Amino acid sequence: MVSKVRKAVFPAAGLGTRFLPATKAMPKEMLPLVDKPLIQYGVEEAMDSGLSNILIITGRGKTAIEDHFDVSFELKDLLERKGKTDLLRQVRNVSDMIDVSYVRQKEALGLGHAVLRAKELVGHEAFAVVLSDDVIDAETPCLRQLLDIHEFFGATVVALMEVPKEQISAYGVVDGEPVDHHGAKNRLYRIRSMVEKPKVEDAPSNLAIIGRYVLVPEIFQSLESIEPGAGGEIQLTDGLKHLLRNRPVYGYRFEGKRFDAGDKLGFLQATVEFALRRPDLGGPFRDYLRGLKQP
Ligand code: UTP
Repeated sequence: MVSKVRKAVFPAAGLGTRFLPATKAMPKEMLPLVDKPLIQYGVEEAMDSGLSNILIITGRGKTAIEDHFDVSFELKDLLERKGKTDLLRQVRNVSDMIDVSYVRQKEALGLGHAVLRAKELVGHEAFAVVLSDDVIDAETPCLRQLLDIHEFFGATVVALMEVPKEQISAYGVVDGEPVDHHGAKNRLYRIRSMVEKPKVEDAPSNLAIIGRYVLVPEIFQSLESIEPGAGGEIQLTDGLKHLLRNRPVYGYRFEGKRFDAGDKLGFLQATVEFALRRPDLGGPFRDYLRGLKQP
């Protein structure tokens, strides 16, 4: 029997160079999409997937993230005095329901290096990893979809998405063998190999790894054994490739829509779509967009 995954690790120590200057003094995970920071969407996805044990890997701007998930007594007091119970509920909900810990990654030496910082707190159990700049809108939370596969096979599972050829070099790309699972074809793959940021001509497929993972604890030994890869960083994809030598790794082409909110255009697209769907903002915002003249 596969034991239940309880912990979700949120690497949030990257430099966010694609979003400078906003990310000079603030982690990109704190950029607000409509009115919630990116990392809160990820934390809510973890909660909705049944994980409430949250471990955030921080770099610079650590205090903004910590303060966000802390109880703010002044704010609570002010909202109570003004009778703003709805807002009070919104600010309290997440911090009341999760248990958050923080680990520091002193230098941004890569995603694999950031995940390795979680080794002591995760211990010998499978765990989830969420990159909160990948915002995923899905009926069943993307992480829940991966956890279902993990619970069935007891193995590592990564989220996959089809990516146009001209963008493939920005991703980790897999070579996978399709596996029929509960009648769904071309969703689940047993991964044969993978490569981080390949040249277009070297990409083994158009299936890219997106920022949701369920990992077995043996990944830590793999991450400890590998050398820096693409960009001189310890890459999680290289760690997974090492793990593949003696553990199965599955890829699941999740159902849902993913936004790359760590990129300016992706962030704008996510902002517009999320705002249009909001009951309180959607109508007036749609009217505003309709009224815009083509420049
Ligand atoms: P990215 O590949 O998006 O890199 O990281 P980045 O440095 O954050 O951003 P750009 O590309 O320079 O704009 C993917 C995830 O891994 C985390 C990031 O915070 C993000 O959630 N990360 C990356 C770390 O925690 N530490 C690192 O050393 C690198």
